[in-house]
Formats: sequence, C-alpha cells, structure tokens
Amino acid sequence: MSTSHTSLTLVQGDITEQAVDAVVNAANSSLLGGGGVDGAIHRRGGPEILAECRALRDGHYGGGLPTGQAVATTAGRLPARWVVHTVGPVYAKSEDRSDLLASCYRESLQVAGELGARTVAFPAISTGIYGWPLADGARTAVATVRAAVDAAPDAFDEIRFVVFDDSAREAYEAALAATG
Ligand code: AR6
Repeated sequence: MSTSHTSLTLVQGDITEQAVDAVVNAANSSLLGGGGVDGAIHRRGGPEILAECRALRDGHYGGGLPTGQAVATTAGRLPARWVVHTVGPVYAKSEDRSDLLASCYRESLQVAGELGARTVAFPAISTGIYGWPLADGARTAVATVRAAVDAAPDAFDEIRFVVFDDSAREAYEAALAATG
C-alpha cells in the first residue's frame, strides 16, 4: 500500500497556465526552443527563460542536454517559479526507448525537488512532435511518478499531469486507474 502524501492529479489545459512551483518543459537537446509545449513556454514565459537556456549552453551543456536528463531555469513571466527542461526520446518502433522516457520523469522530479518545489506539473512528454503513442506514454509517466513518490513519500505535495486534448485525458485517466 502506498503511504505517499503526494497527490497525483490530472488537468486538461495549458501547461503554461499552471500555478505550480515547477513546470516541466518537453524540450529538445538544443534548449533553444521549438514547437508544442516548448514553444508555448518560451512564448508565454518571455525572453528571460531563453537567456538562461543560452547560458546553460555556453556552460555545462555545450553539447546540448542529453535525452532523459533535466535542467532548470527560472520561469520568466509564467505563474510557476521554475521551468524544468527535459528531453524526451523520439519514438521508434524498432527500439524500446521507454527507459529514457521514464528517466525524463525521474530526473525532472529530482531537479524540482532539489530546488525545493512542492508542486510540479508535467506535460505528456514525447507524445506530440516526438511521436510516442499516448496510451504507452501515459502509462510510463504515471508508473514512473508513482514509483518516485512511493520512494520519497514526503518530497512533494502535488504532481499534476497536464494534457491538452480529450484523447490524452482519457489515456491518463486509464493509466491512473490502472496503477492507483
Ligand atoms: N500545454 C499542455 N500540453 C501541450 C501543450 C500545452 N501548451 N502544447 C502541446 N501539448 P510536444 P514532444 C501536448 O510536441 O513530443 C518541440 O519542438 C501535446 O498535445 O510539445 O516531447 C521541442 O522543442 C502532446 O501530447 O513535445 C522538441 O523538439 C504533449 O504536450 C519536441 O517538440 C507533448 O508534445 C518535443 O516533442
């Protein structure tokens, strides 16, 4: 039985509007922006986030942020305090990259926790431009986050999955019900 004090919640909406301590960005390894969640975060958050991303590229992440890892910046004009940038794997039928997808969730929580975040919002990493099937992405997300909160039951108050459309919401509802 889980003894975690962390609520796992599901919201259908825009990740940039979430009033949480940390929002996770489904970034790419360049850290310099893109479409989808990444584009929305930089558009809405303003140039401060990109400036910090450039500084990361000029420093420790000269070769880019590797897939499955995470790094934080402040959140500019977003309601959140921090953006945790992570790079999901591109989906490939020929190769199981689930470990890298799970790593995005684990590493993002690790980084958020080190900052002192108590509430974290995740998009459905890799399920847009990177082509990951929604049902599988949702199962990996929920199972990985559940395992993390079971291992550290007091680390967070809420971990929120934020989905854009009905099909993603249904996939997460099913995943949450299956592992709950
Ligand atoms: N709020 C919540 N969810 C969203 C939003 C939003 N504002 N926008 C899209 N989604 P994606 P990826 C959903 O493509 O697959 C970028 O160019 C979307 O429906 O943002 O990891 C990066 O720079 C989907 O279910 O991320 C990378 O190059 C999910 O969020 C690449 O895309 C993730 O879609 C990363 O691709």
